[in-house]
Amino acid sequence: MRIDIITVSPELIRSPFEFSIIKRAIDKNLVEVFFHDLRTYALNNYGKIDDYQYGGGAGMVLMIEPIDSCISKLKSERNYDEIIYMTPDAPTLNQQTANTLSLHTNIIILCGHYKGVDQRVRELFITKEISIGDYVLSGGELGAAVLCDTIIRLIPGVLGDETSALTDSFQDNLLSPPVYTRPSEYKKKKVPKVLLSGNFPKIEAWRTEQAIKRTKKIRPDLLED
Ligand code: ADE
Repeated sequence: MRIDIITVSPELIRSPFEFSIIKRAIDKNLVEVFFHDLRTYALNNYGKIDDYQYGGGAGMVLMIEPIDSCISKLKSERNYDEIIYMTPDAPTLNQQTANTLSLHTNIIILCGHYKGVDQRVRELFITKEISIGDYVLSGGELGAAVLCDTIIRLIPGVLGDETSALTDSFQDNLLSPPVYTRPSEYKKKKVPKVLLSGNFPKIEAWRTEQAIKRTKKIRPDLLED
């Protein structure tokens, strides 16, 4: 899989890709990630990429020409499955979206900044819009990093234990059950007996029951679907 990220702050988004599971995925060539500095495609030598909004109002808007130049260059080099725009005024990211995106070969992620992008960018180039939650970030970079993390960990071979992504929270619209490790007792708090029983059907049944219990309590909305 190849991910191209278009941003005005490449330095802001680089570090999540330099550690842990995501770094290992890149090192193993399971995913390639490229950062494109929008200023490289600026309108002039001063690096102009944004302007005041028509109609007045606070905040600068990213202009269409630099974004068009960058996306058109990438599209002339390969086909893309999706061109995604990170923005708060979009459907919220969920596990289903991450699962679908992890099956793609090439995607572009455009990070918004300031007041966002000229609406015509969204109409002409963007195939999918994603928010990471009902709050406003200073830019799309952190959202793009979150999105990439959710996608990359699902690519086969990225997680050591192939089944562990399948048992994540949300995979069945359920939160994960509680997990424990040694010691079996700590400050009088004991690990549930069933987990020490070695009876795997019973353990599975307990985990499902706990997952449902937790979901009912914390995220009952997930059970409504
Ligand atoms: N840019 C600003 N806020 C955002 C959000 N909540 N999700 C994605 N991109 C954003």
